[in-house]
Amino acid sequence: MDQERILDHSPENEEEKIVNLSLRPACLADFIGQKSIVSSLKIAIIAAKKRLESLEHLLLSGPPGLGKTSLAYCVAKEMGTKLVSTSGPAIERAGDLVGILTNLEEGDILFIDEIHRLSRVVEEFLYPAMESFQIDFIIDKGPYAKTIKFNLKPFTLIGATTRKGLLSAPLRGRFGLFFDFDFYAPEDLILVVERSACLLEIEIDKPSSYQIALRSRGSPRLANRLLRRVRDYAQVVGKGVITLEITREACEKARIDADGLDEIDRKYLRAIIEIHNGGPAGIDSIAASLGEARDTLEDVVEPYLLKKGFIRRTSRGREVTAFSYKLLNMPLPKDLQKKLF
Ligand SMILES: Nc1ncnc2c1ncn2[C@@H]1O[C@H](COP(=O)(O)OP(=O)(O)OP(=O)(O)O)[C@@H](O)[C@H]1O
Ligand SMILES: [Mg+2]
Repeated sequence: MDQERILDHSPENEEEKIVNLSLRPACLADFIGQKSIVSSLKIAIIAAKKRLESLEHLLLSGPPGLGKTSLAYCVAKEMGTKLVSTSGPAIERAGDLVGILTNLEEGDILFIDEIHRLSRVVEEFLYPAMESFQIDFIIDKGPYAKTIKFNLKPFTLIGATTRKGLLSAPLRGRFGLFFDFDFYAPEDLILVVERSACLLEIEIDKPSSYQIALRSRGSPRLANRLLRRVRDYAQVVGKGVITLEITREACEKARIDADGLDEIDRKYLRAIIEIHNGGPAGIDSIAASLGEARDTLEDVVEPYLLKKGFIRRTSRGREVTAFSYKLLNMPLPKDLQKKLF
């Protein structure tokens, strides 16, 4: 248990996939938190239904595990339509999309996860499909090449991305609705933990749910994962009952602190302080000194540290703040002391 990172957003294994499917909110009423997204979406859905039209194309962005995929399924449920799911890296050639698009029924939802990873050619093929529900086929080659237009049934594209900034402007411009997911507040994560505990038939009290909520770095996926670890720990080490003490112990064993930070977060902060004198440091050199992939740091580690104020991003790179020195029990350097007083 202490060897494996719980907070790492590693791909879900088979068992976890099955559990997560059962924990997924089934409709918007079940969807906890993200209130402004849910209320805008409800209005858009009611309006589209009134007009008997398909919903506008939707772009969902935000860090992993915050519920983008779950929300897409909820939208399909509310619209009473089918959702077909694929992902940016899975569509290698424009041809892969033809079958998917031509099979969509009116109002169906095409969900493309990691949409920032679509190739340029595939992306360009999508433009007319999104804009006017048409695709252009090219048949034959050379002087006999002909373009044939094929009409599609009106559908809704829902794109999900952890990196909105990597989307090209023309692709972004073809979406009608944009929703940015933010980290969940502990109050919302308590509700996630309570709901999941109920579905998994785990008994848990409020103080223990609150502990899990605090240590899940704002993510329902991690809250669910931590809940299962705490349950295991209670069964093996405790008397089968989840108590506050057992919860704390299980989290400490997994080296997750009261702010929800784990070993890699602390290593990241320590690297900026010890190797780069507190920063500013470039992301590539931080990644190299940690032996971690740059993408992991940018997608998984940094967003939460930024949100919590442990680091700052400047034009010259990443800088730690006074909070980081405090967290790691390290003396504040003189220039930061001056800034503080
Ligand atoms: N609002 C929510 N209410 C209750 N549970 C949620 C909510 N959002 C997410 N979850 C839970 O968290 C898990 C992860 O959510 P989901 O797979 O939708 O995240 P994601 O944003 O698509 O992540 P990724 O970027 O990694 O694809 C789900 O299985 C679900 O159980
Ligand atoms: Mg997803």
